This record gives sequence, structure tokens and C-alpha cells, in this order.
Amino acid sequence: MIRSVVRGYGSCLPRRVVTNKELEGVIDTTDEWIIQRTGIRQRYVAADDETTCSLGEGAARAALEKAGLTPDDIDLIIVATSTPDNTFPAAAVDIQNRLGMRHGAAFDVQAVCTGFVYALTTADAYLRGGLAKRALVIGSETFSRILDWTDRTTCVLFGDGAGAIVLEAVESSGGLGDRGVLASKLRSDGCHKDKLYVDGGPSSTQTVGHLRMQGREVFKHAVGMITDVIESVFDATGMSADDIDWFVPHQANKRIIDASARKLGIDPEKVVITVERYGNTSAASIPLALVDALEDGRIKQNDIVLLEAMGGGFTWGAVMVRW
Ligand code: ACO
Repeated sequence: MIRSVVRGYGSCLPRRVVTNKELEGVIDTTDEWIIQRTGIRQRYVAADDETTCSLGEGAARAALEKAGLTPDDIDLIIVATSTPDNTFPAAAVDIQNRLGMRHGAAFDVQAVCTGFVYALTTADAYLRGGLAKRALVIGSETFSRILDWTDRTTCVLFGDGAGAIVLEAVESSGGLGDRGVLASKLRSDGCHKDKLYVDGGPSSTQTVGHLRMQGREVFKHAVGMITDVIESVFDATGMSADDIDWFVPHQANKRIIDASARKLGIDPEKVVITVERYGNTSAASIPLALVDALEDGRIKQNDIVLLEAMGGGFTWGAVMVRW
């Protein structure tokens, strides 16, 4: 059988850091309130010449270099984003062009903050189904462009950035000891649309719109949904919290991450947290956190890594990988 094995990883952040202190000068908020409610201390914000596609290209090039590959070796690009440069063509096709690729297939996946989990699961299915050999899976966002900068309940929470991995189809015995994606579970339920959405779009308002969120309602559902989908990944693999080497959750809010880890019985030492530096970068948050933990030597080859996300829709999901 085929397993989808991670061969490379990379990230790209905007040049500019915006601290909570800086936001105190723009809206009625405090550094203390933001840290206490969310764990966020700063976020990166893209300049005019930095876009979802330029950041995604940067992350893709870094991941290819780490993998020792060139764009010629890639035959699939999937970009998870809710903030593409254009309504169409897809950010993935734009990035394909920036990489000088004229072959293979490229498309976007839109599952908001769960985007990277959806994109990784989709790439894994393509590789295992023989439809591609090597995939670039990219999470790239510029949420700063869809924030209402007068709404203090949302604008303090989000940031911009991109992360990418290279996945390769490799022969496997199918055992849990072999490297690669071991299990994935995806979920969605559109009845929650009004709790977290963007109030515009090409077919409704012909505008891009702004992010709207009922924060307390999202919080109320988050921990239950996250832990439920992770339990089903545990069931699929026969593993438990004790078998996890690293838990890399979507970075929306430190309180949600802590509560989810506690409910699942995951040792806090095994939880990768970057929300204090990047804020919530939606589909980019998991690959950005992965890159941090890989570059500082926490995640090593053969470690069991559990990824999880929940976002607008709602969408939610989890993936277990032997790195
Ligand atoms: N600065 C200062 N005060 C603020 C701010 C701010 N930036 N924002 C809100 N407040 C005030 C409110 O106006 C309210 O004041 P009031 O009591 O006088 O009315 C008070 O703080 C409490 O507001 P709540 O909304 O009840 O605060 P809560 O403790 O719920 O924290 C938060 C808000 C951080 C948004 C929280 O609900 C949360 O994290 N929710 C989950 C949101 C999330 O993670 N979304 C993303 C997940 S999905 C995805 O990633 C797309």
C-alpha cells in the first residue's frame, strides 16, 4: 500500500509585526485583555506587496528546499485559504505559475481554519489513490484584509502568514510503525454558519466583506467538536493520548487549546503553541506551528504528531501522522 510521507516543510511571514500595545492606539482594547482572553501577544500583518499567493510561494519554496526537491518533482498543489488574491483563478494555480510549473494539477480548498487539515487529507487521498506522486500542501492567509479594524471583538484575534509541507507517496507495509499519514477524520455542519462568517462574497454582495463572529458561541462548541473528532482518530488507529509525541492544534485561542488538551488527557508538555506570536492565522496556523516545532528540534522523524482544527461553517477535523 501507499503512505503519504512528509518530506519537507517551510513557512513565510509578512515583514511587519503588530503588537497588542500597538493595537491599544487603534481601538479600545488592552494588551492585558488580549493576553488573558486569548494568549495572543502579537501577530504579523501583510503589507500591500505581500499577498496570500506571495506568502504561499515563499512557504512552498522553503518546503521544496528542505525536501531537496524542485517544482519539477511536484505534480499536485493544494492551497488551503479563505483569503485568495482573486476570486479566481485559485491561489494554488497562481502559486504554481510563480513556481514556474506548467505541469500537474493545482486547486484550492476552502474550509476556513480547518483548511490545512482538509487540504492534507485531500492530498493524502490523491497520493494513496495513485492520482499524484508528490504534493505541495500549503496553508496561506491574509485575514488582515477581511477584518473590520473597528471591531475590537475580532480584529485583535487574527494574523497573516503561510506554511507548507511536501507530501510524497511511499510504499508502506501499512503498519502503525511506518511513516506517513495514519488516519484522518473530517467533519462539517453548516447550521452554525451565522456564528462565524464573512458578510460578503461575489454572488451575494459583490464585495469581499468582513469577518463576523459570535466569539462566545464559537468557544462554546469548539472544545466538544475538537475532542470528539480526535477521539474518532484515536479509534481509527487504536492509539490513545499517551501514544502522542506532539499535539499541534489550530492556534485560535490558548484557552481552547488548553481545555481540549486537558479533556483528552494530553500532557501539556506535548502541546505546540504559537498563538502568542502569530495570532490566529486560520489555515496557515497548523503548518506555521509545525515548522516552529520542527526547526527547534521538538518534532523528530518517526514521532507521532496529532493535528486538529475547527473553524467557520463549522468545519472541523483531525489527522494523525507518523512524522
Ligand atoms: N478588548 C477589550 N475588551 C473587549 C475586546 C477587546 N479586544 N473584545 C471584547 N471585549 C469586551 C466585550 O465587549 C465584553 O464587554 P462587556 O462585558 O462590557 O459587554 C467583554 O470584553 C467580554 O466579552 P466576551 O465576548 O464575553 O469575552 P470572552 O471571554 O468570550 O472572550 C473571545 C472573547 C476571546 C473572542 C472568546 O469568546 C473566544 O476566544 N472565542 C472563540 C473565538 C475563536 O477562537 N474563534 C476562532 C475559531 S474558528 C477560527 O479559527 C476561524
